[in-house]
Amino acid sequence: MERRQFLATCAVAAGAAHLGPLGEAWAGTTPRLYGRSQLVNIHGEPVRLAELALRTNYVFNYPYAGTPCFLLNLGKPVAAADSVLRADGATYVWTGGVGPGHSLVSYSAICAHKLAYPTREISFIRFQSERSPTSDGNVIHCCADHSVYDPAAGARVVSGPAPQPLAAILLDYDGATDGLAALGTVGAEQFDAFFQKYDFKLTMEYGQGKARMPSGATTVVRELTQYCRQTIQC
Ligand code: FES
Repeated sequence: MERRQFLATCAVAAGAAHLGPLGEAWAGTTPRLYGRSQLVNIHGEPVRLAELALRTNYVFNYPYAGTPCFLLNLGKPVAAADSVLRADGATYVWTGGVGPGHSLVSYSAICAHKLAYPTREISFIRFQSERSPTSDGNVIHCCADHSVYDPAAGARVVSGPAPQPLAAILLDYDGATDGLAALGTVGAEQFDAFFQKYDFKLTMEYGQGKARMPSGATTVVRELTQYCRQTIQC
């Protein structure tokens, strides 16, 4: 999203944030802003879009320290989707790819089916550029139960048991620096269910309560192969 366009969207979201219970009902259909997290590399330097390899799995944690997201340069313009469908029948607008080529997208990496996600040990969910026996290429495929999402269409469900798309991460692209920041989400978040389901595991991995701390002013981007030890292929 271009910076000016993004700020206009934020103005709508900021208005919704003051609506109390009505705002709660809107959550997931309008952008939800969290703190701004600059995307940085393992050395703490800002990630530049031009450095990101095409059709490669990158992962960063946002909006919480323990919630992973995919960052994908699809290598082609990705148009907005104005009617992405949630499981409850509500729809929302996804604003498409950001950057000069409108090719960069980001989604929560928590599967909308049974919440599989990339851990330090293993990931069943990942972007898959090549065609495979179980799905076409250029999809996000969760091998746990074969939910397939289209990252070029707001992560809508292509096939499998997932009831709704992955939540999208709102990115701010700075054309002057080629830098990127995460600002919020739109779509159905799975965070409450995620923290409930994996409470023990996340406590062991991050320490008591730390996985649910905000991701902070910066968040590190890694290739999935550096984020977890094993990625399941299917
Ligand atoms: S957890 Fe991803 S398809 Fe079931």
